[in-house]
Amino acid sequence: MITPILLLGAGRMGGAILDGWAKANAFAAADILIVDPMPSEAAKRAEAAGARLNPPAAALAEAKTVLLAVKPQKWLEAAGQHGAHLAPDAVIVSIAAGVQAETISHELGGRAVARVMPNTAAAINRGTTSLYAADADARARARALFEPLGAVVELPEETLIHAGTAVAGSGPAYLYAFVETLEAAGVSIGLSPEQAKTLARSTVIGAAALMESTGEEPSELRRQVTSPAGTTEAALNVLLGERGLPPLMREAVAAAQRRSRELGG
Ligand SMILES: NC(=O)c1ccc[n+]([C@@H]2O[C@H](COP(=O)([O-])OP(=O)(O)OC[C@H]3O[C@@H](n4cnc5c(N)ncnc54)[C@H](OP(=O)(O)O)[C@@H]3O)[C@@H](O)[C@H]2O)c1
Repeated sequence: MITPILLLGAGRMGGAILDGWAKANAFAAADILIVDPMPSEAAKRAEAAGARLNPPAAALAEAKTVLLAVKPQKWLEAAGQHGAHLAPDAVIVSIAAGVQAETISHELGGRAVARVMPNTAAAINRGTTSLYAADADARARARALFEPLGAVVELPEETLIHAGTAVAGSGPAYLYAFVETLEAAGVSIGLSPEQAKTLARSTVIGAAALMESTGEEPSELRRQVTSPAGTTEAALNVLLGERGLPPLMREAVAAAQRRSRELGG
């Protein structure tokens, strides 16, 4: 039994998860307990739908699965505050970046722990989540919590969470940066900001939708729109050249992975 679920911390990410669950009809609202001293709009929406927001401490013992979604620097405080109220067999799923499963388990009475790294597109059921758990039951529960919110990728080793963070956790920001730079480049060659905005955004969204609906490899889709000696090829010679995206992207994800390790201690 995975429910009732206790969400500890319902800020930006916890709120996105609540919204995504509601959209997907994933769990009965009455099976969701939320603890957050400063409830977000998403937490209030969940409460209006029937979730229990900041219930009496005794109610926390009802939770079969606990989703730890406070900032990494607050997790110890949250564990200290609420840990004693949890049921002995409650399973923990943590989204706290950089905090190791063993550390959380140690602090929470040896309970089984899964670690996940989601992203905020969870709010519209298009999230992407990396998942690691040594314990099979914790892994299954984390999967059940995050599958309604989008894609879930299981990782065989905890250290790969840093790589998952570098590709998917931080990934949405890379795409936004790409769109920003494509718009700015459009303006630099004569388009108005308004024109560049529509052309760049609509192109990126359309191309992503095409990749999804055809199921084709991106390299194949790229070939399909690249005629020999044409305009696309001229641009790709720059983008995929020696100083282009491949080395840049490797450098970028390596920097994110390194920073994730540093933050995790
Ligand atoms: N945002 C993202 O895109 C993203 C993506 C992947 C993973 N994450 C991870 O998700 C976690 C949360 O990040 P966030 O951006 O959602 O942070 P956030 O917006 O600050 O949300 C955390 C929430 O937890 C509350 N809280 C603090 N102490 C608490 C306690 N003792 N008991 C219960 N609730 C408590 C906070 O309240 P106060 O404001 O009063 O402190 C806040 O509302 C982090 O570990 C982060 O690494 C975030």
